[in-house]
Amino acid sequence: MLAIRAVSAPVRRQCVRSAPRAAAILSLQNKRSYSSNKVATFHGKKDASGNFPVSLIEGDGIGPEISQAVKDIFAAAKTPISWEPVDVTPTLKDGKTVILPETIESIQRNKVALKGPLATPVGKGHVSLNLTLRRTFNLFANLRPCRSVAGYKTPWDDVDIVLIRENTEGEYSGIEHVVVDGVVQSIKLITREASERVLRFAFQQAEEIGRKKVRVVHKATIMKMSDGLFLNVAREVAKDFPHIEFDAELLDNTCLKMVTDPLPYNDKVLVMPNLYGDILSDMCAGLIGGLGLTPSGNIGDECSIFEAVHGSAPDIAGQGKANPTALLLSSIMMLRHMGLNQYADRIEKATFDTLAEGKVLTGDLGGSSKTHEYAGAIISKL
Ligand SMILES: NC(=O)c1ccc[n+]([C@@H]2O[C@H](COP(=O)([O-])OP(=O)(O)OC[C@H]3O[C@@H](n4cnc5c(N)ncnc54)[C@H](O)[C@@H]3O)[C@@H](O)[C@H]2O)c1
Repeated sequence: MLAIRAVSAPVRRQCVRSAPRAAAILSLQNKRSYSSNKVATFHGKKDASGNFPVSLIEGDGIGPEISQAVKDIFAAAKTPISWEPVDVTPTLKDGKTVILPETIESIQRNKVALKGPLATPVGKGHVSLNLTLRRTFNLFANLRPCRSVAGYKTPWDDVDIVLIRENTEGEYSGIEHVVVDGVVQSIKLITREASERVLRFAFQQAEEIGRKKVRVVHKATIMKMSDGLFLNVAREVAKDFPHIEFDAELLDNTCLKMVTDPLPYNDKVLVMPNLYGDILSDMCAGLIGGLGLTPSGNIGDECSIFEAVHGSAPDIAGQGKANPTALLLSSIMMLRHMGLNQYADRIEKATFDTLAEGKVLTGDLGGSSKTHEYAGAIISKL
């Protein structure tokens, strides 16, 4: 099914090039294919006890340890959340990786989930569960803020980059096949609809956090049709946000400029196709002190899933060494998404104060404290 879509979309665009009138009609039909209403707002409801139920995927490796830290801090802050643990053990159905129906129902009902890292087999085995979750719930935007942490010295102070990655297609469409022995093809899929919704979300995010500029990062010089479509849709969407400045930059140029001096990016929201966002956001994480500090939100229209950018860290799993900050900052993003800003602000302040004080830190930040001791220090500041 997906393969048919993948093949038919570029062919249609190819025809359009040779038929300008048809192109004009098609482009009118395609315009505003995605609702211009505010995308990705939270619609969850409180349960009988007055709490918002949140599905919790503790994850693999260090997942249970860092999840426990978040649960302890949330309990101490009396956050109106009830956790609903869910199982994401993969199963195969008709040759496809799927997750359990009760997990899907829980996330669909609660509209929101917090997720620990999930291990993915390399080069074989089941499809990445992270990808499966993003596809199952159509989590089209991956929001990754990268902010310097006071008290943790890196070559750059005051980094405050907001990056949005398209999360459902592009190079991660998972459409790969062997053409003949020794020749493999991987299809990069870009659609107007998926591009428009992530771009619209980027402009709305800029409005929400008070940034006056949105920049698309692309390689339309080389991928003229796929990145070209993304860029053209961006130009169209920008017209609906005349108070926000819009521009575009080539990916390689962005990388060079960002590691040379990231501060000029502090006034923008950056938005880009899938692979570029994956790589660039890890580069940004490096600028602020690494993966242990970087949160993210996978945003969809119906449901959203918040998670740390890092993986399951099997090398330190079960040793109480993991830094829970990235998952905690992701859970703070989740609280803001749910409109629980007061709780978010309080927990965030206690976290940043603990980091700035520098007395109780995990090993990755140069300290020697255990995960639960660091969580305890945050709790004592609430
Ligand atoms: N979103 C996700 O669920 C996600 C993301 C990336 C990788 N993964 C998976 O995680 C597994 C391990 O991947 P990897 O080793 O390449 O990357 P990783 O992020 O798990 O670990 C990289 C390094 O960073 C350290 N690290 C990561 N998180 C840390 C934390 N919170 N505190 C302290 N140190 C931390 C690890 O100890 C390791 O040295 C793989 O199966 C991979 O597929 C999952």
